[in-house]
Amino acid sequence: MKNWIKQTKKEIDHTLERLIPFPSDFLYKDLFASARYSLLSEGKRLRPLLVLAVAEGYNVPQEKALLPACALEMVHTYSLIHDDLPCMDDDLLRRGKPTLHQVYPEWHALLTGDYLLTYAFEVLATAPDLTAEEQIALVRSLSYHSGAHGMIGGQMIDLLFEGQPIEWDILEAMHRGKTAGLIMAALEFGGILGNAPEEDILSLKIAGLALGIAFQLIDDVLDSASPQNSSDMQKQKATATALLGTTATETKAHQLLESALEQLEKLPCSTSLLRHLFDQMIHRTN
Ligand code: IPE
Ligand code: IPE
Ligand code: MG
Ligand code: MG
Ligand code: MG
Repeated sequence: MKNWIKQTKKEIDHTLERLIPFPSDFLYKDLFASARYSLLSEGKRLRPLLVLAVAEGYNVPQEKALLPACALEMVHTYSLIHDDLPCMDDDLLRRGKPTLHQVYPEWHALLTGDYLLTYAFEVLATAPDLTAEEQIALVRSLSYHSGAHGMIGGQMIDLLFEGQPIEWDILEAMHRGKTAGLIMAALEFGGILGNAPEEDILSLKIAGLALGIAFQLIDDVLDSASPQNSSDMQKQKATATALLGTTATETKAHQLLESALEQLEKLPCSTSLLRHLFDQMIHRTN
């Protein structure tokens, strides 16, 4: 299991590296350099790993699933670049390095995010091993889960409620959008690539919803663990830990993990890799 993760992360990194050319062309070199700075830094690669773990369960060749998995990582990375900007969370560190707008002008970071978002859809629409139907299904999934009903909608709630009191239902809607959106897309991607029946895709999406909310609950717990460095506290973010406290937040995350794992039992294929990844995502330290 550990070997699979290590080896697959290498394949993901190699594919990402190949997708963004090394900056040599005079006109594009600054854009490619900044895209590589963010994309090739030390991310956990959880979303592409989820795509590839589902695909493996349905016996999809890894070569076929790698490009879609990397397209999803590009959208995730764009969301992080924009999330860190001064007009949003105004953060200084990302993936252990200065945020992109610390290294380049703010407009450059903004455009780098735009480029990764746009390029992700080009990668999906031109992936040579996919049928036109698969390309369209993936584009539909990614645009839905990263849009108003997914990541962008969740980020809107996040920023609207900065410094405001929040109720659990709204906080949950925020987590559902900003974080569970792309995690649902990852699991749906695997199902689409595996030509899975509708009922399997539904179970994958329900699992992704529970897992994604749990993942953000743990993100809130980890941020609040050192109050002096807490970005959320400095910005008076509406978070699960501020609303419920650490223990209740962790309990909720573990309950959601259990319900995500239950959904996997409905699938006819092998889910051992997925179960392991789900568990790691909730029992993590960064
Ligand atoms: C960070 O996601 C943003 C959230 C949705 C909580 P990850 O924790 O997966 O970030 P990377 O990709 O490993 O940097
Ligand atoms: C980020 O949520 C979710 C997205 C980028 C869409 P956070 O703002 O809590 O993520 P971190 O803590 O900066 O990684
Ligand atoms: Mg944020
Ligand atoms: Mg943030
Ligand atoms: Mg956070």
